[in-house]
Amino acid sequence: MSRSKVIIFISGNGSNLQNIINNIDNDFLKMDITAVVSNNPNAKGLVRAEEAGIETMIIDTSNKYIDGLLTLINTYNIDLILLSGFMKILPKDFTDKFYGKIMNLHPSLLPKFKGLDTHKKVLASKEEYHGASVHFVTSKLDDGPVIIQGKTKILKSDSENTLRDRVHRIEHNIFPLAIKWFIEKHIKQVKDKCFFDNEELECPIEHLAD
Ligand code: GAR
Repeated sequence: MSRSKVIIFISGNGSNLQNIINNIDNDFLKMDITAVVSNNPNAKGLVRAEEAGIETMIIDTSNKYIDGLLTLINTYNIDLILLSGFMKILPKDFTDKFYGKIMNLHPSLLPKFKGLDTHKKVLASKEEYHGASVHFVTSKLDDGPVIIQGKTKILKSDSENTLRDRVHRIEHNIFPLAIKWFIEKHIKQVKDKCFFDNEELECPIEHLAD
């Protein structure tokens, strides 16, 4: 089987990008990252990509940028687009065109706490649990079918930083799993639902803590 070709969108630190690179290096993910795309020229994730010998591309989201992306995706026949800490909203034309091929990582137990500042919002709420989700992307923000989630109990002593650290650890477990299921063709998105081995998922797969 030929190796899947993936592009990864980032905006910042890129710890999840690094974790994906590590999972390719240790052969858990049999795929290649064709390019890392960032809207932020100062993203640390770009340095991580360059150190791993991966092409990088900066996009200016205040300007026309979709044409360049389409050229990249079509030229290399990209199988999967990963939003890995990408803090911009992609236009509907783009999400429609690559329907079923875009996955996003989000730091909350979707459908709770869509959008920004999820750790802050969850601390201000009466929730018992927080966590992270991987979902297929639709044109609505943080709204596509959720593939997998991992959760953590919120402690009285928690701050945004402690929650962010625990959620990152969850993300580093669940994102590679969802990616592996996609490239091995176990999961697919059909009519805004997620199917696993051709069975519709009634609810997200729950990743149990290590
Ligand atoms: C991750 O927690 C990811 O879930 C979040 O950004 C962080 C990126 O961390 N994404 C979003 O909030 C998207 N709405 P990283 O740069 O260290 O991978």
